[in-house]
Amino acid sequence: MAPTVERKKIDLAPLKAANVPIFFIVGGPGSGKGTQCDKIVAKYGLTHLSSGDLLRDEVKSGSPRGAQLTAIMESGALVPLEVVLDLVKEAMLIAIEKGSKGFLIDGYPREVAQGQQFESEIQEAKLVLFFDVAEETLVKRLLGRAETSGRADDNIDTIKKRLHTFVTSTAPVVDYYESKGKLVRINAEGSVDDIFGVVVANLDKVTSKI
Ligand code: AP5
Ligand code: MG
Repeated sequence: MAPTVERKKIDLAPLKAANVPIFFIVGGPGSGKGTQCDKIVAKYGLTHLSSGDLLRDEVKSGSPRGAQLTAIMESGALVPLEVVLDLVKEAMLIAIEKGSKGFLIDGYPREVAQGQQFESEIQEAKLVLFFDVAEETLVKRLLGRAETSGRADDNIDTIKKRLHTFVTSTAPVVDYYESKGKLVRINAEGSVDDIFGVVVANLDKVTSKI
């Protein structure tokens, strides 16, 4: 049975009124979503919200909502849609109040329904950046990061489960946005700077219109 989740009413009016551009950032575990978002923030000044970071912050806060999350994340499965979407909405509203000029939503959507719900409740994404990396590269990067990250899900068993979740639930997200003409598929096997060059070439096409 799906766990019941605590929800509160969130007033999205300020977020909708701001109507700033929103970019979804997707890719397998360890594909470089966070790494590239840091560089995008430095160049374009957009607000970076990682759904995984928001969930880990919620766990650290000791809230009742956070208590339900650790086990799910350690199993490499997806947290219920409503929990993630509420956390994202709350963080977006705080950023809008501070004058955000746009968002990178990293690690979201992870299933087609997440994207559809976000776009029907908030706003359509301008583009979806997909970092395309082979599984063996992902495993190598995550095992490298495991030496220092302290993340409960950076161990080989959970990494395998995260990869499985990516293939079964998130790969259809890529097809969905490709069919809508919104997907930017980026080969993300190369160096961080080479990948960023491709990111910039694609963002420059749309950010000049912001
Ligand atoms: P999340 O925190 O999003 O984890 P993830 O998707 O598994 O991705 P990572 O953050 O591990 O990797 P990344 O792509 O950001 O790569 P990074 O830049 O760090 O989610 C964790 C969990 O939360 C999920 O499993 C799920 O349970 C839950 N969750 C999150 N979002 C959810 C949602 N929307 N719905 C439901 N549940 C959700 O790079 C990785 C390493 O590689 C680093 O060491 C980096 O230095 C290195 N690296 C990066 N780029 C390169 C490069 N080009 N060359 C060499 N090394 C590189
Ligand atoms: Mg990340």
